[in-house]
Amino acid sequence: MARALVFLVVIFSCLFLIRRTEQIQTSQTQQLLQLRKQLQYPKQLDAWNNTDDLCYAPSSPVVHVGCEGDLVTMLKIVGDKLAKPGEFEGYSIPDQTLSESFSVDSFVTTLTRLTTLKVVILVSLGIWGPLPDKIHRLNALEVLDLSSNFLYGSIPPKLSAMTRLQTLTLDGNFFNDTVPDWFDSFSNLTVLSLRGNRLHGPLPATIGRVTTLTELALSGNNISGAIPDLSGLTSLDLLDLRDNKLDSELPAMPKGLVTALLSKNSLTGEIPEQFGELSRLQHLDLSCNLLEGTPPAELFSLPNISYLNLASNMFTGSISSSITCSSQLGYVDISTNRLTGGLPSCLNSNSNKRAVKFNGNCLSIDPQHQRKDKYCQKSQIKGKDAKTRDIGLMVAVIGGITLVVLVLLLVFLVVCRRNCRRAIAEQRLLPKPVQENSATGFSSELLANARYISQAMKLGMQVLPTYRVFSLEELKEATKNFEHSAYVGEGSIGKLYKGRLENGTFVAIRCLALFKQYSIRNLKLRLDLLSKLRHPHLVCLLGHCVDGVTDDSSVNRIFLIYDYVPNGNLRTHLSECSLERALKWSDRMAILIGIAKAVHFLHTGIIPGCFNNRLKTDNILLDEHLIAKVSDYGLSIISEEIYKQEASVEGQKSMHNESLALEMLNVDDDVYSFGLILLEALVGPALSKKGIAYFLKELAMSFSKNEEQKHILDPIILGTSSQESLSIVISLTNKCLSPESSTRPSMEDVLWNLQYAAQVQATADGDQRSDVASQA
Ligand SMILES: *[C@@H]1O[C@H](CO)[C@@H](O)[C@H](O)[C@H]1NC(C)=O
Ligand SMILES: *[C@@H]1O[C@H](CO)[C@@H](O)[C@H](O)[C@H]1NC(C)=O
Ligand SMILES: *[C@@H]1O[C@H](CO)[C@@H](O)[C@H](O)[C@H]1NC(C)=O
Ligand SMILES: *[C@@H]1O[C@H](CO)[C@@H](O)[C@H](O)[C@H]1NC(C)=O
Ligand SMILES: *[C@@H]1O[C@H](CO)[C@@H](O)[C@H](O)[C@H]1NC(C)=O
Repeated sequence: MARALVFLVVIFSCLFLIRRTEQIQTSQTQQLLQLRKQLQYPKQLDAWNNTDDLCYAPSSPVVHVGCEGDLVTMLKIVGDKLAKPGEFEGYSIPDQTLSESFSVDSFVTTLTRLTTLKVVILVSLGIWGPLPDKIHRLNALEVLDLSSNFLYGSIPPKLSAMTRLQTLTLDGNFFNDTVPDWFDSFSNLTVLSLRGNRLHGPLPATIGRVTTLTELALSGNNISGAIPDLSGLTSLDLLDLRDNKLDSELPAMPKGLVTALLSKNSLTGEIPEQFGELSRLQHLDLSCNLLEGTPPAELFSLPNISYLNLASNMFTGSISSSITCSSQLGYVDISTNRLTGGLPSCLNSNSNKRAVKFNGNCLSIDPQHQRKDKYCQKSQIKGKDAKTRDIGLMVAVIGGITLVVLVLLLVFLVVCRRNCRRAIAEQRLLPKPVQENSATGFSSELLANARYISQAMKLGMQVLPTYRVFSLEELKEATKNFEHSAYVGEGSIGKLYKGRLENGTFVAIRCLALFKQYSIRNLKLRLDLLSKLRHPHLVCLLGHCVDGVTDDSSVNRIFLIYDYVPNGNLRTHLSECSLERALKWSDRMAILIGIAKAVHFLHTGIIPGCFNNRLKTDNILLDEHLIAKVSDYGLSIISEEIYKQEASVEGQKSMHNESLALEMLNVDDDVYSFGLILLEALVGPALSKKGIAYFLKELAMSFSKNEEQKHILDPIILGTSSQESLSIVISLTNKCLSPESSTRPSMEDVLWNLQYAAQVQATADGDQRSDVASQA
């Protein structure tokens, strides 16, 4: 009896306590905690555990609750569930969207109870479903940012009732209706950003009446038809319509435009003269359209123009030799057009100040990278109709071929997904046989049927010089008969020479001796595959030269001729001691993302994929803009034999060294090698002095203790990175270097995580800047 009494007392006091806490919590805090529950407790919100009043919860770049008095006016949560644009269907979504039990309807209902909200930023939280109309009840809202979630359906029309809205950002979702025509009902809207959705249909003319707009970004959708008259948007700074299906002529642009991005559409006609009056314009990208005529000379001399990209259009005629270039102009790309004549002196690529790309025209300079005059003349005289008809025919033919290829590919992929994936995964668990397998993997059939699927590759090819066969004489001339002064050193495979071609370009020449002699046919197929590996982050392979008579079995040397990348390799840059020149965290992120893109391309951009690319920091070259270029890729295609021999010699050597034993087992796994590059980017040159195992242990510990991190990370990083961004990369490094190859992430995941870390860093940097600005 007494025991029961005590029990009751305990229960009552518990209830009492719970009631007390509830009373202390404001009702707004309760709503926020309810939101956290509905978002399935993202770890970013753990900071809310120990506070009764969330107005006082600690803030960070990824979580912020702002209050005026007791009223919540701002809610910002940035999660880590990145929505991958364009890959919703068929993509395994479980770990990226919130689970089945999530209801976007109840979530928004809870949100709208916080009626005082002015700013709502809920990014990358895995929110999925159609955005409910009732969100308009937040009638004090000025900023709504729901980027990088999985919202689909239409953008709810009742949003137009939120008259105070200044910023509407829904980037990276899956909205799949038409572009709304009611944006002109906002009187204060300055930023409208709907990038990376699936909006289709035309761009409504009403958008030209939202005169308050400073930023209009609709890139990466499926918007078709004409660009409406936007000249009334007098405050517009940024117009981003890239990567849609717009197919009109270019209209006049708003006078104050600073950045105009219109690439990858089907825009036609000439560039209007009016573009020459856009005095504030800094960045103009019209590449990959169907524009004609001669680009107006005024474009090059606009006072503030710094980036001008006209590549891959159908521009004709010659650019007047008397034009002047703006002193700001740093990058000009006119490649892959039908331009003739010479280049005006201010576009002469010999000047260091300016990067100028002009390959793939019929210009009178650098003939090796120009097309035959006929190509440009024919299209010039041809009437417009004939041209359109031709294009129609071409499109039809290419479309037909593409369709067949796509169907074949799809079948192949479906079969491959089912079978090869598992097979590859199993193989990857066993270190040695992989090599054998990848060597025999390139059968003649597979090589001959190699298909190329990557968009990135197509883009890469448009700006890179065309591949060609060099003669031995040419190479001898370029290297003064392979003289000692031209010898750069023993590359990871074969000797390396630096040479200068007749036209003045510097090249790197790799000389491979072939132990096993392929049949000429087989060798040609291999070189053909190698020549297709083109990507902005791969050192460009310009061509090859086969030394030997062309009858079978007498080939003994192959030369591979590459672009010469002038600025040293990543390892030297990481060893840089001068504070000024040392790579900051954001530089390192950009470089790592570049490498990851290249490797992702090598793995998935071609079939068969190319899986061991000898990644290491001294194989990553940097150009003058610190753009990363992977060298030594794809060599297993051409010289399996050498690779195997060399690897086994290296293997014997390093087996003596225990800490390298692990590394040796994994040299053939790009993800593991990439992990080593990540590690070196984190800890700097110290990596080569102490063992990998040491750093792995320290890094794992650094997760729990911030102090530890300081000892082992490169000091430059600590000064230039945010804690969050750093943690993401450290965690990724650990995963890549996992001893179990099956638990390592795919290159796609790697790329994704890095981009996320860069985004977090950019947000942190942005916040810092605005802090400084608000203090000023
Ligand atoms: C915060 O609370 C949530 C839910 O109650 C829990 O899952 C999480 O582990 C807690 N985090 C910390 C750091 O205590
Ligand atoms: C628009 O902004 C102005 C100035 O910031 C403000 O006075 C006005 O009330 C706003 N209009 C609406 C409908 O919120
Ligand atoms: C949009 O996507 C959803 C979900 O995939 C689909 O059910 C709906 O029919 C699509 N709507 C339109 C207009 O395409
Ligand atoms: C884009 O729109 C066109 C028609 O305008 C349609 O044929 C095509 O399938 C759409 N593409 C996507 C990815 O929705
Ligand atoms: C050109 O750019 C500079 C700095 O970015 C700016 O101060 C100047 O106003 C711009 N000129 C014009 C004509 O907009």
